[in-house]
Amino acid sequence: MSQPLTASRSARLSGRVTVPGDKSISHRALILGALAAGRTRIEGLLESEDVLATARVVATLGAIVSQKNGVVEVLGQGVGGLRAPEGPLDFGNSGTSARLMLGVVAGHDMCVSFTGDASLSRRPMGRVLEPLTAMGLRVEGEGDTLPLTVRGTADLIPVEYMLPVPSAQVKSSVLLAGLHAPGRTTVIEPLPTRDHTERMLVYFGAELDIEDLDDGARAITVCGDAELRGAALSVPGDPSSAAFLVAAALICPDSEIVVENVLLNPTRAGFFETLREMGADIEVLNPRQAGGEPVGDLRVKTSALKGVRVPPERAPSMIDEYPVLAAVAAFADGETRMEGLAELKVKESDRLAATAEGLAACGVDVEADGDTLIVRGAHTVKGGAEVATHMDHRIAMAFLTLGLGAEEPVTVDDGSMIATSFPDFAALMSGLGARIA
Ligand code: S3P
Repeated sequence: MSQPLTASRSARLSGRVTVPGDKSISHRALILGALAAGRTRIEGLLESEDVLATARVVATLGAIVSQKNGVVEVLGQGVGGLRAPEGPLDFGNSGTSARLMLGVVAGHDMCVSFTGDASLSRRPMGRVLEPLTAMGLRVEGEGDTLPLTVRGTADLIPVEYMLPVPSAQVKSSVLLAGLHAPGRTTVIEPLPTRDHTERMLVYFGAELDIEDLDDGARAITVCGDAELRGAALSVPGDPSSAAFLVAAALICPDSEIVVENVLLNPTRAGFFETLREMGADIEVLNPRQAGGEPVGDLRVKTSALKGVRVPPERAPSMIDEYPVLAAVAAFADGETRMEGLAELKVKESDRLAATAEGLAACGVDVEADGDTLIVRGAHTVKGGAEVATHMDHRIAMAFLTLGLGAEEPVTVDDGSMIATSFPDFAALMSGLGARIA
């Protein structure tokens, strides 16, 4: 059943908050934990629907997952040691989990069916099936969307694969399959995408070579027949969740908040970089390393913002943040032009269309032109609309954030999908003084 939520004009957001663990890192910690020999201890794992789907999947495949005093433990089965499930694996809404696990299943001699919800069943899987079938995965039947039945093999072939789209999910899927193949599997990415898989593979003991090529491209090689050892890690706060709190503080008058323990990996930091260019008052306090990743506390104050051009090469480092950036841009002075957004069309919804449609409903001057989104900001945003979220958690949170600064309340048709990535969103926002109900 859908659960509408409404955000109303708010001011003076204040306080300190800690956002829950990073979703990308949480998925990977569970998956590498399942592939490692021995015990993996994960502190700060994100407990959202997407990550719980991954936990259920790895448990169905034979890893033993338990939780005590907020720490999740995974007893792994070793690379290639997972067992065939009795029924289909349900990935819910999680594209990351489905794509990464296709790479894992590819290296096991077993037949597995992958299913997901209506949103996930529309998303392209061909982007991972193409390299994985070149390595030896077989796909039963036609089509490149879930539901899918695939057969893996214990005799995968290593490949060199150039990513046709800048996707960390595709890169990770091939690298995970490469763990199971004899020899060296290389992925070449023309633009840097989030590198959590690489960092964590090294942390778990895999052999990895990373070579910087021309124009920002990178070649990442994993040595196959790998042995991973269980590890202890702590998951930093998710910058893609922090993005909504930061955005709210910028647009609600007289606000000052601190968001603690936010992951500041450069492959994820494009949103904060863009906000600074727009004139945002964001200070990094106490920068430090945690679990092999850079983190810091973000102090954010209400700011007068101006429109900017966001170049296409920045897209991979902020791909999940465009809906909320577009919401912020509506309050800025002048035009914000976001280029190179093709990948936005194949997320949990067509986020380019959903963002443009929602902004227009709220009275914002917006134009979607091919892969470019243009928002002409005007300080004041009318609001007073019901926005369609299309089963997309980030569209829901972006428009609730916009509603906090709009003249009239903004309602999203369904807030239930927020549990996909950020179950505490409304509670944390309310704790800062935001009016969401
Ligand atoms: C993710 C990568 C991104 C991102 C998604 C999580 C990951 O997708 O949109 O939310 O954890 O690897 P693509 O790599 O497919 O762009």
